[in-house]
Amino acid sequence: MNKYYIETYGCQMNEADSEIVCGILENQGLTRTDLLEEADLILLNTCSVREKPEQKIYSRLGKINKILSKGKNPKIGVIGCMAQNFKGEIFKKNSIVNFVLGPDSYRKLPEIIKTHKKHVIYTDLSKTEVYEELFPSRNSGMNAWITIMRGCDKFCTYCIVPFTRGRERSKSIEGVLKEIENSANKGFIEITLLGQNVNSYNYKGKNFTDLLNEIVKNKKIKRIRYVSPHPQDVTEELLKLHRDHYPKLANHIHLPLQSGSDNVLKAMNRNYTQKHYLSLVKKIREYVPNMSITTDMIVGFPGETKEDFKETLRVMKEVKFDTSFMFKYSPRPYSRAYKMKDDVNEEEKSKRLSEMIELQKEHTLFRNEEYVGKEVEIIVEGFSKKSQSEMMGRTSSNKIVIFPVIDNFGEIIKKKTIIRKTIISTKGVTLFAK
Ligand code: SAH
Ligand code: SF4
Ligand code: F3S
Repeated sequence: MNKYYIETYGCQMNEADSEIVCGILENQGLTRTDLLEEADLILLNTCSVREKPEQKIYSRLGKINKILSKGKNPKIGVIGCMAQNFKGEIFKKNSIVNFVLGPDSYRKLPEIIKTHKKHVIYTDLSKTEVYEELFPSRNSGMNAWITIMRGCDKFCTYCIVPFTRGRERSKSIEGVLKEIENSANKGFIEITLLGQNVNSYNYKGKNFTDLLNEIVKNKKIKRIRYVSPHPQDVTEELLKLHRDHYPKLANHIHLPLQSGSDNVLKAMNRNYTQKHYLSLVKKIREYVPNMSITTDMIVGFPGETKEDFKETLRVMKEVKFDTSFMFKYSPRPYSRAYKMKDDVNEEEKSKRLSEMIELQKEHTLFRNEEYVGKEVEIIVEGFSKKSQSEMMGRTSSNKIVIFPVIDNFGEIIKKKTIIRKTIISTKGVTLFAK
């Protein structure tokens, strides 16, 4: 076995897990290929958070089958959250799949690539697995994903993640710092700390801010981000750190609201009320006035009335999020809400979603217009997607900025440098500088 091919779906945790998987495979002497046709091993790292991404995987497997029928006969594995969710069922639905590995079973890969068995499955969830000493394989890019904790104990009633990822557990402070140092030595200047509830980090009594206090000391790292924090665990101590370490600690917080209605929040088991969330936003703005706040929203949760939805829009208008990921509720097996009646019909869900998206567009424009005329610090990431005469970079607040490749002194701007620019205009989610 020489070459492997991998596709990753779902959240950043899955992106980070794929890097661990690549690390394990490369330690076994395999090399990565971007050509499916030449691979001896094909992996799909999958997501189960909503029904749509699951359907995508089944149709992808169908397509892969067609491509392969002409040539090689590689080993095919479904790994990640769908593997955990569907286990052996995947073999029944897809005859081309040879192995199924849940998110805590990646250490089994060396055994799997050697075995001649037709079907192999490992889906035990672990209370301790954090892939502590395995260094992920990451060669390019700006930003290194650093997983600091795994799993979720929050059990929001709509969510499958506690079932696919198991219980919360954290990496040691020492392990995290070592991984960051390692990434810095490979040239990464930005890191994103990852966890399903990243700020619930707890290693032998050391919490998220204890960890951040250590990380900010690393001089080679220029910017530190984290996703996703749970509103329940956003402390004043964390906000003080944002204030004291701006712009190195990114002035951006992704704070999933899900719904603005107290009835729905309660039914979702989100552990906070509208009032608590709004006072948290107020506190954030007191400590860091220009903090960008982004969110996740669900429309059409069981029992969500028109009034509930209006409440949500009202909260959105009050906060004016910088951006938002907005989803229609999708019933998930195992979750508590699965037993509730999915009583907001598809048409109504779509209507609410488009209304929400329109409102969010207004807010994104409002927030971005606040930047026009102001100078910002940008880390340069590379050429813009559209043209080689323009570059793109990101502000500490995670805004994408497009600017000319030649600076005001006639010099070419280099990737991974930190520059200061004045914003002249904005369109969609993008800022433009001169
Ligand atoms: N741990 C993170 C997010 C996990 S999933 C957090 O709590 O913030 C990412 C997002 O998917 C969630 O924030 C939620 O908005 C959405 N989501 C999760 N389950 C869903 C479901 N059953 N239907 C629709 N959206 C869902
Ligand atoms: Fe899912 Fe809630 Fe856990 Fe986020 S906090 S992963 S939404 S159960
Ligand atoms: Fe999807 Fe699993 Fe992430 S369900 S959102 S890939 S934790």
